[in-house]
Amino acid sequence: MNIMNCSCNKGSEQKSNRQIIIFDTTLRDGEQSPGASMNLPEKLEVAQALVDLGVDIIEAGFPIASPGDHESVQKVAQLVQGATVCGLARCVPADIDCAWDALRFAESPRIHIFLATSAIHRQHKLRMTQDEIIAKAVEGVKRGKQYCSNIEFSPEDASRTEIDFLCRVVEAVINVGATTINIPDTVGYTTPQEMFDRIAALMNRVPNIDQAILSVHCHNDLGMAVANALAGVAAGAGQIECTINGLGERAGNTALEEVVMAMRTRNDIYNVDTKINSQKLVPTSRLVSQITGLKVPRNKAIVGQNAFAHESGIHQDGVLKERTTYEIMSPESVGFTKSDLVLGKHSGRAALADRAKQLGYDLTTEQLVAVFTEFKKLADIKKEVFDEDIHSIIEQQIHAKKNALINSQWKYQSYKLISSGGAEKSTFQLKLLRNGQVESLEWTDGCGPIDMAFSVVQKMVGLPIKLKEFKVEAVSTGQDAQGEVVVLIEDQRKPGSSFRGRSVSIDIIEATIIAILSAIDRIDL
Ligand code: KIV
Ligand code: ZN
Repeated sequence: MNIMNCSCNKGSEQKSNRQIIIFDTTLRDGEQSPGASMNLPEKLEVAQALVDLGVDIIEAGFPIASPGDHESVQKVAQLVQGATVCGLARCVPADIDCAWDALRFAESPRIHIFLATSAIHRQHKLRMTQDEIIAKAVEGVKRGKQYCSNIEFSPEDASRTEIDFLCRVVEAVINVGATTINIPDTVGYTTPQEMFDRIAALMNRVPNIDQAILSVHCHNDLGMAVANALAGVAAGAGQIECTINGLGERAGNTALEEVVMAMRTRNDIYNVDTKINSQKLVPTSRLVSQITGLKVPRNKAIVGQNAFAHESGIHQDGVLKERTTYEIMSPESVGFTKSDLVLGKHSGRAALADRAKQLGYDLTTEQLVAVFTEFKKLADIKKEVFDEDIHSIIEQQIHAKKNALINSQWKYQSYKLISSGGAEKSTFQLKLLRNGQVESLEWTDGCGPIDMAFSVVQKMVGLPIKLKEFKVEAVSTGQDAQGEVVVLIEDQRKPGSSFRGRSVSIDIIEATIIAILSAIDRIDL
């Protein structure tokens, strides 16, 4: 059988929709994306957004990896109501005990235990025989089971594991109480047909498979993560592991927004439902992008800025006559808002509150006051304040403030640049507040304002830091657009380390300085 003629897909045999469990691993596999690390308040904010989005399970981290990971899994477990919280563990006692220690106060905990099963991993990484792997997997699941009834087992590199051996492993761990069996395509190697066949084989050949839920966890190395996850579902998988914006190791994981909207839009093929509130997809994607500093490409399916933009005249004409000529989903259904109203300096607080609500933010009165003050400042400089500007004010005022480290020593106050142009030296004067006291420094070395800004901050803060990446982008359109600056810095005492900072301002030099300071805040001093 193949993925196109599976009997469960035939329209004429309409079955009622199956419910697919959405397991989000943005905080674990997603956080493994280079440069995507989050601090504790940020992780808590993402966890709450995932609950509001309607995910069933949140993989909050890998507790044994570091004390910080343990603490964040514990805090997420204590915070989350209405979703299961999961922690990852290698198949060794110390990991499993540590995962449980972090999870034990969760309303609904799950321990996720993994052990590699493919020949490549057995021979080169683990140096274990098939029988030894089965014994170890069984021991691990038994240990987890002493703590928690909800145990997920992942045979790592399952997609490259001999199918007979995979069936034996799966049967053995279900026998000792594993309740979910996840099939990871760890290296992003499989294809949709192969994933379909693998899940179908497990469904048909493992005698106790009805006692567990099969799950798929696909990586995107060949750009097939979403297609592979969908193929797994078509063959009978009941859980999809995915991340917001497709974050994850290397090329990332199955993108939650894509796989959910594919199942919803092509319900005629898949006959499945999820609990996801699709109107929260764009706000959640924006939040994760803003927190991780990893931009969503404009042409990204579902949540990219161009996902619903019709450029060609023929398409525009068609959409105006009948939307469905060129649109398979409505922008509103995934949380894009449309507004003919442009705010400006005469707009009042009620108009701003209304706009913020339409953009997906529930602001408290206190937050609205702070946002309104910044809005007025911006509206004095800019003629028109666009939705993108409002997003950035809210993100700066609410999220960035909430997530800033309380022990941050340095705060930006002002800068002055006397640029003489040509061969003559410029002078850069920076004033920072150090624990509330003004300190200032004048600098004349460097080639251009960004280089000078970085050097003067580095000198004042007195840390051996290096600028690894610098990005600047207009937030909206027009020559008076605000600029968003994202920087990655390295603490040279920890070679290879990456600390991210971000800021938005009408003045990109100011934004650069604040972004560098916020990256410095993340260095564990
Ligand atoms: O990709 C993978 O194999 C994983 C496992 C830990 C499930 O992330
Ligand atoms: Zn993975």
